[in-house]
Amino acid sequence: MSAPSPPQEPAPPPTSGEAGDPLLRPLTIGGLALDRRLLMAPMAGLTTPAFRRSVRRWGAGLVFTEMISAYGVHYDNRRTLDYFLHTEDEHPLGFQLFGADADVMADAARRAVEAGADLVDLNMACPVRKVVKTGAGAALLGEPDKAAGIVTAVVRAVEGSGVPVTVKIRSGLRDGDGMGRAVAVRLAVAGAAAVCIHPRTAAQLYRGRADHDVTSALAAELPVPVIASGDVDGRAAALRLLERGAAAVMLARGAVGAPWLFAQVLGADEPAAAEKLAEVRRFTAEVIDELGSRAVGHLRQFWGRFRRHGALDKPLALELMRARDLDAVRALLDL
Ligand SMILES: Cc1cc2nc3c(=O)[nH]c(=O)nc-3n(C[C@H](O)[C@H](O)[C@H](O)COP(=O)(O)O)c2cc1C
Repeated sequence: MSAPSPPQEPAPPPTSGEAGDPLLRPLTIGGLALDRRLLMAPMAGLTTPAFRRSVRRWGAGLVFTEMISAYGVHYDNRRTLDYFLHTEDEHPLGFQLFGADADVMADAARRAVEAGADLVDLNMACPVRKVVKTGAGAALLGEPDKAAGIVTAVVRAVEGSGVPVTVKIRSGLRDGDGMGRAVAVRLAVAGAAAVCIHPRTAAQLYRGRADHDVTSALAAELPVPVIASGDVDGRAAALRLLERGAAAVMLARGAVGAPWLFAQVLGADEPAAAEKLAEVRRFTAEVIDELGSRAVGHLRQFWGRFRRHGALDKPLALELMRARDLDAVRALLDL
């Protein structure tokens, strides 16, 4: 096991890359001004406050909560409302809501704005059965009237706040149905300030390649910015998507266990192992602060990924996987 290095300040997020870097051009979404076009996608179970701060440190221009049940918010479910918790250094921060009822979504959006959202994103992309069977997530792709009605109601509910409403969609429910593009036009007309597309179908879940021909076609069609999500694994992929018409790109799975991917996409060299380990230690300490004993299980999602991305050596990653309590995790990372 390698000895952890002492705590270090992580690298500041890059503020200027190579001259004229397209990823560092400002972008306005409704009333929200972003200083770059590289964003962190929402990910259930992963994009917690500690995670969001971690990717912000490495250069993410906008971060999102994981998807939050609009019903849970509307009915004051304590655990759901905990998803609103965040710290000042996470901003700009998008709150993502899912649900199928326009009034409930509108109420949840109003409350998200009160809680500090800089942007409200509506999830019409989630393919998980538990969500789709309630008519929410990707199920809305097949119900354009209902989907547009939700956007209209939510936009009206947050009117005057300056907070933009965006929607995240898939390319369709099944291969070739074209539902994503068809519904996106309706969503923009209804007032969505941007559309984010993950161009896999709901049936594909997370398998296969994202079909960014759909992203290009949508970008050519829509009067609002189109944000691309799917398979962005480095600078070349990100730049290619901007060239193909996307207004901004999102990192998702590629940044789990590698928050420094943001800096690399913005042109920085890969950080040294010691720098990566310092980030792992800081992230771990913050997760423990936030989750207490639940951190042990939560962090197990990360150790293997940190190992694959060169932040932990194999023996240390294995010991962390085996750690049963917070004291063991702290001892292994010298926290
Ligand atoms: C574990 C996991 C959880 C996710 N949770 C959400 C979510 O809550 N909301 C959402 O809009 N997308 C969610 N996504 C989709 C991602 O935001 C992203 O669009 C997708 O992973 C494609 O990007 P990638 O190929 O770079 O991973 C999730 C994806 C994964 C793998």
